[in-house]
Amino acid sequence: MDERVISEEKLEEDEIEMNIRPETLDDYIGQEQVKKNLEIFMKAAKMRNESLDHVLFYGPPGLGKTTLAYIIANEMGGNIKTASGPSIEKSGDLAAILSNLEEGDILFIDEIHRIPRFIEEILYPAMEDFVLDIVVGTESSSRSIRIDLPPFTLVGATTRAGDLTAPLRDRFGIISKLEYYTLEELTTIVKRSAKVFECTIDEEAAIELAKRSRGTPRIANRLLRRVRDFALVEGDGNIDLKITQKALDSLNVDSLGLDSTDYNLLKAIIERFNGGPVGIEAIASSIGEEQTTIEDVYEPYLLQIGLLKRTSRGRMATKMAYDHLKIPYTKGLF
Ligand SMILES: Nc1ncnc2c1ncn2[C@@H]1O[C@H](COP(=O)(O)OP(=O)(O)OP(=O)(O)O)[C@@H](O)[C@H]1O
Ligand SMILES: [Mg+2]
Repeated sequence: MDERVISEEKLEEDEIEMNIRPETLDDYIGQEQVKKNLEIFMKAAKMRNESLDHVLFYGPPGLGKTTLAYIIANEMGGNIKTASGPSIEKSGDLAAILSNLEEGDILFIDEIHRIPRFIEEILYPAMEDFVLDIVVGTESSSRSIRIDLPPFTLVGATTRAGDLTAPLRDRFGIISKLEYYTLEELTTIVKRSAKVFECTIDEEAAIELAKRSRGTPRIANRLLRRVRDFALVEGDGNIDLKITQKALDSLNVDSLGLDSTDYNLLKAIIERFNGGPVGIEAIASSIGEEQTTIEDVYEPYLLQIGLLKRTSRGRMATKMAYDHLKIPYTKGLF
């Protein structure tokens, strides 16, 4: 089965994710530094009776950016309005969103790096001075009018902070990078989700699931749902270590949480490019995967766990990668 652990299809899962999303900062596990800072900034904004400064979250998919946006709205007592970069195609789209804002609203824009540049410029005065400049009339007799906006907080999320223009980035007062979760944090998340799903899970099973979840809560929750199915059909409903291992093996999730695309990627570097260094374009075309998908989704985790190395001349597979794939390591031998 070529089942992917990391899928880009989010829609079907949105509803399930809503149910297991922590709603308060206290319930949000991990990302301690981000949490601590946010707590102070939110408290200060409340004491001053102001809206929270604009916040940008960046980091790999599934680490909790959207979750934090909802938590901010909840903790600040404001309503959340959501939009996403790709859905903003005309200046009018963004103008409509902005002119509908009410005082204290949290405007969450997902994939904010995908707003076209000429539209993005509308955001600058909106973020800085809470004003909206719109052009009215026909081309021959057009004029610009300025509308005051109520104080609001823009929360932007992106997997690619590098794609954000400097003027936009500079207008966020709070910029936070989300990191992969530790084994302990993920184990806690798995146990918390199991409780929400009303199923029981043994400690070792929770740890095993956490180990194979690429440091990512979304993946941990997704795997937990599948393992729960196995436990129900093939066991007595309780999730123990044996059923967890069996389920994850049949889902082709290996001991490090790697799936078939990770394998193809590492194998390509090792077998076709002699271990690298090799450019990302060459890897992408060699395994038939989008370059951005590799850069945003696959590569960060492989770099994090040390199977991949980035050099000025391209990506290299490390000795650990050879070992993990059980391919004899011949590089660096004289
Ligand atoms: N700190 C956390 N504690 C518990 N659960 C979490 C945490 N962070 C994320 N999750 C869970 O992981 C799932 C994915 O999180 P979320 O949708 O916020 O990720 P994201 O960073 O917005 O991803 P994307 O970049 O794909 O939009 C959520 O359903 C949520 O339940
Ligand atoms: Mg999100």
